[in-house]
Amino acid sequence: MLNLTEQMAALGLDILRAPSPIEWIETVLNDFPAFMQDHADCERKASAMALSFIAKYPDRLEIIPELMDTAVEELQHFRQVYRLMEKRGIPLAKEITKDTYVGDLLGLCRSKPQERFLDRLVIASVVEWRGCERFKKVAEALQEPELQNFYALLWQSEARHGESFTEMAKFYFPREEINCRLDFFLTEEALLIKRLPLRPALH
Ligand SMILES: [Fe+2]
Ligand SMILES: [Fe+2]
Repeated sequence: MLNLTEQMAALGLDILRAPSPIEWIETVLNDFPAFMQDHADCERKASAMALSFIAKYPDRLEIIPELMDTAVEELQHFRQVYRLMEKRGIPLAKEITKDTYVGDLLGLCRSKPQERFLDRLVIASVVEWRGCERFKKVAEALQEPELQNFYALLWQSEARHGESFTEMAKFYFPREEINCRLDFFLTEEALLIKRLPLRPALH
């Protein structure tokens, strides 16, 4: 099987169309406890999202095992980040702020069921790749070895998830159609990432 870079080269696409603004990492480092609180929520929501695919598409048998594995892995990430928070006396966030980033991307989904299914898979890939890009930046910027190691493992795991949602789409859609939607969502995501307000949060 091709690795992520080879696969994306084969698709003729660069992964993300815009890097995160430099100010984003500064904002995160200025309030790292708030970032961890948001990060914990994101992992919990990522696990729930994988499960919601199973709930919405129980007849797509080819992808159920992979979705289960993803849900478990995201839940493990949630537990890992929670343990690191616990150690540092950081509680889970009381209020979950609305995630404009994911909400705006989902708002661009087409409405026919089969088209919506593809768009949701493609969005999941794009969101995972952005997580990968940002966790990598966090790992590189942090000084504390325990946190640094954690975020270094994490970005590699999110890169695999990015790849896996696109792989799932291949069971049901021709490559050209997947590429076309990837192209659309990567362009929209790049515009979105430039206009998002800076917060000590993953998005
Ligand atoms: Fe994760
Ligand atoms: Fe992930």
